[in-house]
Amino acid sequence: MSSPSSAWREQVAADEAARFARQGKILAAIQAARSARYGAGRALHRKAVLGANATFEVLAGLPVEARHGLFAAPGRYPALVRLSNGSFDMQANTRPDIRGFAVKVNGVTGPSSLDGTTDHQDFLLINHDSFASRTSDEFVDAAAALAKGEGALLLWLFRSFGLRGALTRLKTLAGVVRKPFSGFATETFNTALPIAVWPNAAKLRLKPVAPGAPTDKDFAQDMRDRLVVGPLVYDVALQFFVDEKVTPIEDPTVVWPEAQSPFVSVARLTLTDADADVEGLRFDPWGGLAAHRPLGEIMRARKAAYYVSQVGRGAA
Ligand code: HEM
Repeated sequence: MSSPSSAWREQVAADEAARFARQGKILAAIQAARSARYGAGRALHRKAVLGANATFEVLAGLPVEARHGLFAAPGRYPALVRLSNGSFDMQANTRPDIRGFAVKVNGVTGPSSLDGTTDHQDFLLINHDSFASRTSDEFVDAAAALAKGEGALLLWLFRSFGLRGALTRLKTLAGVVRKPFSGFATETFNTALPIAVWPNAAKLRLKPVAPGAPTDKDFAQDMRDRLVVGPLVYDVALQFFVDEKVTPIEDPTVVWPEAQSPFVSVARLTLTDADADVEGLRFDPWGGLAAHRPLGEIMRARKAAYYVSQVGRGAA
């Protein structure tokens, strides 16, 4: 096991602003085409599975490396949750997809990771502990190709990476979307990319405390049924940066090994009911405290991407 370290560094390339502007145009085009079909909505993670009210409770007695930002002191905050499918399409929950778990912790105050001060802290998680695309260009270009159809995605892969590279990426992509998913009450979710816990850095994970048995019901219905019976509680844990080799900041494809950097429980998220209307809200990795600024190239790209999508659905 290694010790948490604040010696992390981001590597910012000179051409990022231009690349992110190009990606914004691509995402806006995907969003506009889908909005013409379905009505206004998000560029990605368009379909909400559930909106829930929740409470977020920061635990007492945290280790010193965790006691920063939202986790500086014990406290209880009202929160909102949006569960989603990753696709730009409105498709059946049975279709293979990435699953999203977005949390907005309200009642927070402090300097924002954007400008001025913030009154909330958002965390955006998926049912994966790493991100399959090495760069934001790769992710956005793959999404753009897929938006034209599976044939277009194949063509883009072979043109961009050659036969071997395309086959490797195809296998990875298939593994990502086809990863079995037993439901939002039983799976573990991860930010997959690090955030600051200033001056440290960490990934954040949500894990059901008492998941019970998975069901083969539709997973939106499964969540509604469970919430009628009682609240659903998730352990919130941080996995700290230890060094660039073991826990790289700029390589999103690396799963940080728990043997060297174990998760530390810092909070409890309790979903209380499924009655929240969250469609018009912004859940944004950059919506929160400067102490929890998102880190790494993909996170920097998301600063531009989510804003474009918010503008495109009238939520900016
Ligand atoms: C280059 C990489 C990425 C891009 C360009 C991107 C882009 C987007 C966009 C445009 C939206 C819709 C935002 C809105 O209108 O509110 C979205 C939603 C979302 N993204 Fe990403 N994303 C990326 C990576 C990730 C990663 C790494 C995660 C999590 C680990 C993630 C999790 C989510 C979730 C959970 C939502 C749904 C938010 C909601 O429910 O409102 N994304 N993404």
